Amino acid sequence: MSALSIATAKEVFELLRDDLAAIEQEFTRQSASDIDVITDIAQYLMAGGGKRIRPLLLLLSSKALGCTSHSRIRLGAVVEMLHTATLVHDDIIDEADTRRGRPSSNTTWGNAKCVLAGDWLYMQSFSTALEERNFRVLELLISLTQQMVEGELLQMQKLGHLINEEEYFDLIYRKTACLFSVSMQLGAAISGTSDETESQLGEYGRNLGLAFQIVDDVLDLTAAEDILGKPVASDLREGKATLAVIHALERGTGADREAIRTVLAERSFTTVSHPEILEILERHGSIAYAMDTACAYAEAARLSIADLPLTEAKRALLWVPGFVTSRDR
Ligand code: IPE
Ligand code: IPE
Ligand code: MG
Ligand code: MG
Repeated sequence: MSALSIATAKEVFELLRDDLAAIEQEFTRQSASDIDVITDIAQYLMAGGGKRIRPLLLLLSSKALGCTSHSRIRLGAVVEMLHTATLVHDDIIDEADTRRGRPSSNTTWGNAKCVLAGDWLYMQSFSTALEERNFRVLELLISLTQQMVEGELLQMQKLGHLINEEEYFDLIYRKTACLFSVSMQLGAAISGTSDETESQLGEYGRNLGLAFQIVDDVLDLTAAEDILGKPVASDLREGKATLAVIHALERGTGADREAIRTVLAERSFTTVSHPEILEILERHGSIAYAMDTACAYAEAARLSIADLPLTEAKRALLWVPGFVTSRDR
């Protein structure tokens, strides 16, 4: 694929600016409840920003197939609302205190209110999706929700344990890549395309979502909190072994393995410090390995849409993988 076929960030933003603004409005409209605390939590999270990558994918998928109906705005809001609901729940589960550069909602409103507000947002996203009167749309969203919940539960079962790459990929597919895949498939579902095209777009989303979570996990290890906008080095402190750590565990010396095991078991950097872990990961090229793996999935995403006709939307879809692997937050 020639470089000319890949859009620039500016082109992508211009292509989607009006649609993304319409999705923000739809989200605001859909998150208004008679119960103030629900609206407050939803609005608080929305105002914190966020990359809006899932609605962006849904828009590009439907645009690539020539769909111009209002469904793309509605479902763009649906995937961002659903994502927001999972963030509210995720921060309770992970006991995180920051999100999008601000105190996380659980810190401000407490766990009890946030669990319920998350449930409400989840259901509001389904109720909005129901307006499509399209069973394929519901089927995709229901199996997605089950995958995501199973992913979180599976992750809890593995906390503190050493997992292998296969288990890691299964986990990150469920918790992250599945929503990327469904965002792409929803774009196809409202465009009335062939099953084959829907599945190619879904494959693009799966590959991109895997790359996305691998990068999220690397940033957790290497980023600065003020740039990332959420806690750093939190995965190890939560007992989660991510790709770079799994790589180092397989290649490290006995002492290296012991150091990593200690952090995972103690769920803190009291005995072994964060810089010591980073030194181990660097020495074995584990961060580079994880980033190379993310880049390979990013490239696989580009290849998944080789059959799509070359349109502005396709050029934008070819830009997204590079954005995902080079981001710093
Ligand atoms: C955070 O997703 C949760 C993960 C799947 C890693 P994003 O990184 O897309 O979060 P926002 O929406 O941009 O804040
Ligand atoms: C994302 O996993 C899972 C979700 C579905 C929200 P993380 O726990 O790594 O997400 P962050 O790092 O808190 O955003
Ligand atoms: Mg988390
Ligand atoms: Mg993370």
